[in-house]
Amino acid sequence: MESIKVNLIKTEDNSYDILIKEGVIAELAHYLKNVKMAYRFAIITDDTVKALYGGKLQKDLLAHGLNSELIAFPAGEKNKSRETKAWIEDRMLENNFARDSAVIALGGGVVGDMAGYVAATYTRGIPYIQIPTTLVACVDSSIGGKTAVDTPHGKNLIGSFYQPRRVYIDVATLSTLNEKEIREGLAEVIKYGVISESSLFSYVDQNIDKIFSYDCEALTYIVKRGCEIKARVVEKDERESDLRKILNFGHTIGHAVENLSGYTISHGQAISIGMVAEGELALEMGLWKENELVSLTALLEKAGLPTKMPEEMDIKNVIETMKLDKKSRGGQIEMVLPKAIGSMSQTRDGYAHKIDESFIEKVL
Ligand code: NAD
Ligand code: GLY
Repeated sequence: MESIKVNLIKTEDNSYDILIKEGVIAELAHYLKNVKMAYRFAIITDDTVKALYGGKLQKDLLAHGLNSELIAFPAGEKNKSRETKAWIEDRMLENNFARDSAVIALGGGVVGDMAGYVAATYTRGIPYIQIPTTLVACVDSSIGGKTAVDTPHGKNLIGSFYQPRRVYIDVATLSTLNEKEIREGLAEVIKYGVISESSLFSYVDQNIDKIFSYDCEALTYIVKRGCEIKARVVEKDERESDLRKILNFGHTIGHAVENLSGYTISHGQAISIGMVAEGELALEMGLWKENELVSLTALLEKAGLPTKMPEEMDIKNVIETMKLDKKSRGGQIEMVLPKAIGSMSQTRDGYAHKIDESFIEKVL
């Protein structure tokens, strides 16, 4: 037998900056002109964000002599599909986008996940920039390189890890969000407080009115802390072998609740319910104290988020749905659990706790 080895040991530097400033989007064209990342730019967005910010961004690029096309799909999770991805790619192919191109993802998490995945696969990979415009996207989806589309079998099932070259966060864009979208993001920010930083948790508690009044300083603070926490987790464990799982606090039960509600309960609402339910399991296991769970429940309620599972939702169905989740291992339910507001509990094998379904049924 002949044997030829293909040597592919790699050392890669995929580091990038997250820039947070009011009006920072205006600096993008100047940066792109200087770094010569690409000759053509596909600004991928949804129709809502196109109307608010897309035209202005394209004008900026054109004014700097940068060739760009705006490609907008209808807003909404139902369009984070393989079909939309193919539609975007066809627009790019018809417009002769080649390997010398780059993608700019302008919008919320739906746009960011979609545009990132287009960039990951277009001509086998072109660079992309994230410009998140929702609180969820600013503190979560624009950082860490998880890109994906949904399928009828579940959310985010087809995708890749593909890091952006830069993230531009203009907190002023959050001023056009409605309160519901602010609450969606706050659920993730409160989660960061629990998993990593009790001072962020207290800050949200003390500044909730400012956050809902779109106070730039308060929004900048929570965005900056959220990005910092996510960046520190992702740089230690990009592929979610252990530490990155702590970002899933509230999500094991939350995803099941979201799914069983037929997505009438939003993601932020579902993880709020999930954090309290997982907090109850942690309490029963003696991992954290009752006053911590009380504080978490109170803050989520203050943020206008639900904390109880809908009465009509049968816990047996929730358990069955959790077993089918992509995070479960061979049907064994795993979740990450807090040991205090600000830190997560670890087992001998890492952050994921294996939880018996009979225990969940008894406690919840
Ligand atoms: P979204 O992208 O659907 O945005 C919510 C709505 O806000 C949309 O209608 C959008 O058009 C509108 N919008 C966006 N920016 C606006 C602005 N500045 N002013 C007014 N309206 C604006 O939803 P989302 O909550 O941003 O993101 C949810 C998605 O993110 C889900 O698909 C989820 O799976 C994904 N996600 C991914 C990660 C990751 O790590 N990749 C993390 C969290 C969430
Ligand atoms: N949103 C969870 C993660 O990025 O891992």
